[in-house]
Amino acid sequence: MTDEFQALLKQTMGLDAASVGAASIERAVQQRLAACGLKDAGAYLDRVRASTDEVQELIEEVIVPETWFFRDREAFTALARLVYEDWLRTHPEGVLRILSLPCSTGEEPYSMAMALLDAGFPAERFRVDALDISARSLAYARRAVFGRNSFRGGDLEFRDRHFTPAGSGWQLSTVVRRQVEFHQGNIIDACLNPGAATYDVIFCRNLLIYFDRSTQDRAVATLTRLLALKGWLFVGPSETGLLLSHAFVSAKVPLAFAFRHAGAVPVEAQSNGHQSPRRPPPARVVTPMRPMPFSSVTLRSSRDVAGPPAQPKTGIDHAMQLADQGRLVEAAKECEAHLHAHGPSAKAFYVMGLVRDASGSHAEAAEFYRKTLYLDPQHHEALVQLAFLLDGQGDKTGAKVMNDRARRIEQKAVK
Ligand SMILES: C[S@@+](CC[C@H](N)C(=O)[O-])C[C@H]1O[C@@H](n2cnc3c(N)ncnc32)[C@H](O)[C@@H]1O
Repeated sequence: MTDEFQALLKQTMGLDAASVGAASIERAVQQRLAACGLKDAGAYLDRVRASTDEVQELIEEVIVPETWFFRDREAFTALARLVYEDWLRTHPEGVLRILSLPCSTGEEPYSMAMALLDAGFPAERFRVDALDISARSLAYARRAVFGRNSFRGGDLEFRDRHFTPAGSGWQLSTVVRRQVEFHQGNIIDACLNPGAATYDVIFCRNLLIYFDRSTQDRAVATLTRLLALKGWLFVGPSETGLLLSHAFVSAKVPLAFAFRHAGAVPVEAQSNGHQSPRRPPPARVVTPMRPMPFSSVTLRSSRDVAGPPAQPKTGIDHAMQLADQGRLVEAAKECEAHLHAHGPSAKAFYVMGLVRDASGSHAEAAEFYRKTLYLDPQHHEALVQLAFLLDGQGDKTGAKVMNDRARRIEQKAVK
């Protein structure tokens, strides 16, 4: 009987039973069966086959609604930066269209709205459509009262700005809520079209991992159709490889996991960032995800420049790739092995810095950036990252020193 339920869920919502485990589907079936007052799984199978409402109830039981505000924070920082540096330049008028699919209980689309409002982006210049298959999650999202689990990590300043205490939770302000509109939608529905136009930004994070390959391909086809030609698609840390096997290229914001239509990015720009589809990846340098004082010039450290252009992939290049894909633990291991085998290296220390930074160990990250600069004082990315960290720790003087050094390198590079 389990096979029949698994097939039904795959067909209706795309769920690959292997991703959540057969036992959790079995549990969901038992729960629904009891709620319907039925005796056995056979009777419940008949019920669920005859009733779309019951299919929805079963879906509600198996979904994984896990989410929280500013999950993988770099994506939200990158969103605000890309909108300012790129979208605004080409759109002096008009409304930025954003899609959060799946939005679960609302933390992701509301985080997008907070990130843009906090960056000073006018409320009337953007809209967020938020979609999910779960009606229950959408009802929760619209109510916009959140418990402790929705607020994770150390940096919760946004809660003071945008929420008021409500019972044991927090109520989100109307200012943020009115930027977001919730709809029910299924990503594997080939006709899914929540708005008339395409979207400038789509977040589709932590859903594709629950699909098998053929369903992932269907979902990516939907995303390809919904994303504007010059738009940005953000996925979850474990979902980047899939996009690269379709017609997407990295938007070159490492650790934010952002992609663009391959056709929208000139081939020469692609070669410096990520591989075009089905091409083996070139060795690359992870560029900082933090706001850069310029964006059109790619700077490399003196050691990188000195190297031949097409080196065979070394352990450290591989580590950079892993970090870029969000595989931080593996990236750190690769770096450590490289340091152990070859001794101190600016590149390895820099990647270790990025990895520690992304996992929130800022003191360690700063130490690695310093080690990078000790070996390579011209390492521009390390200077920018360290400046950002020092600034965040309140060390304005230290940050200024690093920024000034970075700026001098930029000036030399553009001469
Ligand atoms: C783990 S949450 C991800 C939420 C958010 N994007 C994030 O990263 O925090 C996965 C969500 O996918 C939704 N979902 C599952 N299958 C779906 C489908 N076929 N279409 C749309 N949403 C789906 C679930 O209801 C659940 O809310």
